[in-house]
Formats: sequence, structure tokens, C-alpha cells
Amino acid sequence: MVADAIVSVEDVHLRFGGVVSLAGVSLTQERGEILSVIGPNGAGKTSLFNCLTGVYHPQMGRIIFRPTPEHEVSLIGRKPHRVNRIGIARTFQTSRLFNALTAFENVKIGVESRQRTGPIGAMLHLPRTMREEKESDTRTVELLDFVGLRRRGDEIASGLPYGDQRRLEIARALGTEPKLLLLDEPAAGTNPSEKLALEQLIRRVNRELGVSVLLIEHDMRLVMSVADRVTVLNFGQVIASGTPGEVQRNPAVVEAYLGRVETEESGGEG
Ligand SMILES: Nc1ncnc2c1ncn2[C@@H]1O[C@H](COP(=O)(O)OP(=O)(O)OP(=O)(O)O)[C@@H](O)[C@H]1O
Ligand SMILES: [Mg+2]
Repeated sequence: MVADAIVSVEDVHLRFGGVVSLAGVSLTQERGEILSVIGPNGAGKTSLFNCLTGVYHPQMGRIIFRPTPEHEVSLIGRKPHRVNRIGIARTFQTSRLFNALTAFENVKIGVESRQRTGPIGAMLHLPRTMREEKESDTRTVELLDFVGLRRRGDEIASGLPYGDQRRLEIARALGTEPKLLLLDEPAAGTNPSEKLALEQLIRRVNRELGVSVLLIEHDMRLVMSVADRVTVLNFGQVIASGTPGEVQRNPAVVEAYLGRVETEESGGEG
């Protein structure tokens, strides 16, 4: 039992017709921790994220989120935007940026999802809206700066180098002020120097912003260097959990990855 768990997944079962995606998954993430979820293609990693964010509704099990140590919320049955409101943000396996918008606009959408004034207030140019507008512009610039994209704010998202797009998605997610950030293969498709920038960014999100990070990633070098703990899924079940070193030495893990331990390649869509 973890003293201060930010999220607890208990015996979650998820299936689609005859396909079993999650077959009794339990895991706990400690507040402040970087926890990585790894496993072969089709193991159920993205399904787990979808259960955590209200996209999928598991047939069985419990998922408890604690935005603060005193406050406990069940995530099952909640809508994605509600889950985001209570403090969980995510990025997707395949980029879901607004491609026709600028980097600045993409991040600002995240930031504004936090604000109280709706579109009507904005249309009427209520005084609070003007203040909020200024605040959200400032925050947006801060976040672009944080992810190393301050000078690219005016560029169209789809025109940015791929590594920049991936960091832009993180900035947009951070705009919603999460306590827990879920990253689904953030390094997929990036080159070695972009991977390094991502690794540093993930660490800074965790240490400087105090955000707990749940990371799905196929790049083992990145996982082993950045994660405090690692949980391994295979065929919808947790087959190992521990420090990066423990997991790497675990025979069940070696077997699940046999022949592909060195592969940095990811596959599939999510
Ligand atoms: N909406 C869905 N409908 C039917 N089957 C699904 C659905 N979502 C996931 N699955 C199935 O659940 C299993 C787990 O898929 P999931 O995407 O969670 O794997 P993953 O671990 O993220 O794999 P990858 O590393 O390739 O991204 C797969 O067999 C997949 O086909
Ligand atoms: Mg996936």
C-alpha cells in the first residue's frame, strides 16, 4: 500500500466483444512520481490511459484519483473533460494538435479550458474576460518558453519539426494545470536529439512543476533513465513492477520482450 497514491487502479477489466484489453490490472502511482508503463504492442497500455481519462469504461474494477491527499475521486464513468477538470491531462500516441492553428493558439486552448468565462462572456467583452485574456496570453507564452518553443509561437503547428510538435502537445496539456500528466509514447517518431530534449522536459515537468507523470514509452533507454518505477503489461495483465533495474532483470519481462528488447521502434495507433 502506497502512503500517498495519486492514482490507484484496482482489478480493472476491459473487453471489446471477444477481445480482452485489460484482464484485471492493478497499479498504484505515488504522488510526485514518474511511473512508466511498458509492454509489447497490444499489451493494453493505451487502453489503460483511455480508462483513466473517461474514454473507455471498464466492465469491472476501480480507479481512484487523489488530486490532493485528502480528496478522492472515482474516475470510472466520468467524461473526459470532467477528468481533465479534476487534474488529469494527457497527450496521445498519434499527435492531436490543431494542425491549422499556430503553436501559440494550440497552447492557449489548453490554458483557456481552465477559465471560467465562457464564449458568451468573451463575445460581450466583459471586463473579467479582458483580464483573463491577458492572463492566458501570459501563461501561454510561459508554457511555450517552458517547452523551448517561445520563438515558434507564431508558426503553424503542422509546420513544426516533429519533436517540437510533441513538446507542443505537452505544453497544451500543461495549460490545463494537471496534477497528473499521462504521456502516450511521446518519443515515438522523434530523432535522438529530440528524444534527449523530451527526456529533459519530462524531468522538468516533474521536478519544477511538481506534476506526477505516467509515461507509456517503447524507447527503453528513455524509460530506464527517466522513470522512478516501471510497470510492465503483457496481454492485458501486469507481469512486473519495480525500479527500472528490477524490471530489466525480471525473467518474465525479458521473455515478453524477447527479440525486441533493443527495439526503439513503436508501432500501432492510439
Ligand atoms: N476501441 C477498441 N475496440 C476494439 N479493440 C480495442 C479497442 N481499443 C483497444 N483494443 C484492443 O485492445 C488491445 C490493447 O490495445 P492497446 O491499444 O491498449 O495496446 P497498446 O499496449 O497501447 O499497444 P501499442 O504499443 O501498439 O500502442 C488490442 O488487442 C487492441 O486491438
Ligand atoms: Mg498504445
